[in-house]
Amino acid sequence: MALLAIFLPLFLPGVIAGAAQPVRNGLFPLDVVDQLELSTMPKVETWMASKPASARNNCTLETAAIRREWSDLSVQEREDYVGAVLCLQKKPAKAPKDQFPGAISRFDDFVAFHMTQAMMLHDPQHLFASHKYFIWTYEKALREECGYTGYQPYMNYDRYAQDPIHSSMFNGNASSMGGNGAPSTYSGVIQPFRKPYDKIPPAGGGGCVMEGPFKDMVVSLGPKSPVVNSVPKNPRADGLGANPRCLRRDVNRNSALGATANYTYSLIMDNKDVDAFYNRYLGQPQLKGDNHPWGLHNAGHYIIGGDPGGDFYCSPGDPAFYFHHGMLDRVWWIWQMQDPTTRMTAIPETGSMSMGPMKRSDAAEIMVDFGFLAPPVALMKLLDPLGGYDGNFCYIYV
Ligand SMILES: *[C@@H]1O[C@H](CO)[C@@H](O)[C@H](O)[C@H]1NC(C)=O
Ligand SMILES: *[C@@H]1O[C@H](CO)[C@@H](O)[C@H](O)[C@H]1NC(C)=O
Ligand SMILES: *[C@@H]1O[C@H](CO)[C@@H](O)[C@H](O)[C@H]1NC(C)=O
Repeated sequence: MALLAIFLPLFLPGVIAGAAQPVRNGLFPLDVVDQLELSTMPKVETWMASKPASARNNCTLETAAIRREWSDLSVQEREDYVGAVLCLQKKPAKAPKDQFPGAISRFDDFVAFHMTQAMMLHDPQHLFASHKYFIWTYEKALREECGYTGYQPYMNYDRYAQDPIHSSMFNGNASSMGGNGAPSTYSGVIQPFRKPYDKIPPAGGGGCVMEGPFKDMVVSLGPKSPVVNSVPKNPRADGLGANPRCLRRDVNRNSALGATANYTYSLIMDNKDVDAFYNRYLGQPQLKGDNHPWGLHNAGHYIIGGDPGGDFYCSPGDPAFYFHHGMLDRVWWIWQMQDPTTRMTAIPETGSMSMGPMKRSDAAEIMVDFGFLAPPVALMKLLDPLGGYDGNFCYIYV
């Protein structure tokens, strides 16, 4: 009865016919971005129908995996996901021990890679495509190495922004992604060039996570760029040594308020050019009158904050990282699908994280090299979730 009351089936006309119908959590009415996504589905169908076989790579909407919002999963599905993450944290690392002595588990492999490749992963050319590949690789590990049968969930920030601490993401019960950190004093997270809002105010946490499935998690790698106090130093200057410590978080409403649906909607609809989209996503240049001007990327990261979640290099060390970047991948896809003919292959060129002379015209030459983590793939193959990477990518967000 309770389930029936909460889970209202939502049928998507014409889409994913034949596949299991996704279910939505009736506690959360569709927000403006959900509605936009839904109204974009006919464009997705048209786009799929227009693709040559070489771009479709056997991927169809009927067979596509469905990545869903955390609260739309049943409690059992959430617990299954959590169980798979805990499993990955118990499997031995594959990262070369001589280079990454602090990578203890398979989960740490992803942190180690992100730490050493952070500058590449965030430059304008790579940010979207490489994170897409990164999350997909993690999802694959959960499925193939830990028996998870679902797909990577995402976090629709808007659902939790008003009270993230008591949300199904962070309320600390067995079907959450763990609770908030214990109270601590730290001064907030600096957001340069955004005066007078150049700091995300702290929200009272920042200490060790005390409740939920990750309360006993051992964080090993890092820190490299900690944002909270009293994080023990890594024995190595590069942060790659073993530094066993607790997971720290400041589940932060102040940050979440910069990631409500109106921000996401504006990001998608008011930035037709890919450079503008990339820069707005990183919160630059500052919008006039905006008192939460962090940009969706930073606002989403510091909803979790803490250590390693708030550390630019080590952030995948908080298992909630994948929900945040899942949402960003979803947002990119909705943006692409507003005008797929021009946007599917649009690669950002200029932005604050630019590493130098890389030009859009060079994109065709770029190989995304994931080292020990996954095979190298041409960047241009990592753009389309429906048929990209030779058909290995075949998923939608609902
Ligand atoms: C598509 O499916 C056909 C039939 O199963 C197979 O022969 C072909 O290799 C597949 N193509 C790709 C790109 O996976
Ligand atoms: C945990 O919280 C979620 C979201 O509030 C709820 O659906 C679920 O029933 C809770 N589980 C337990 C064991 O309390
Ligand atoms: C979103 O809504 C909030 C609250 O009404 C407002 O402060 C903020 O400026 C809005 N942001 C955008 C980009 O519309």
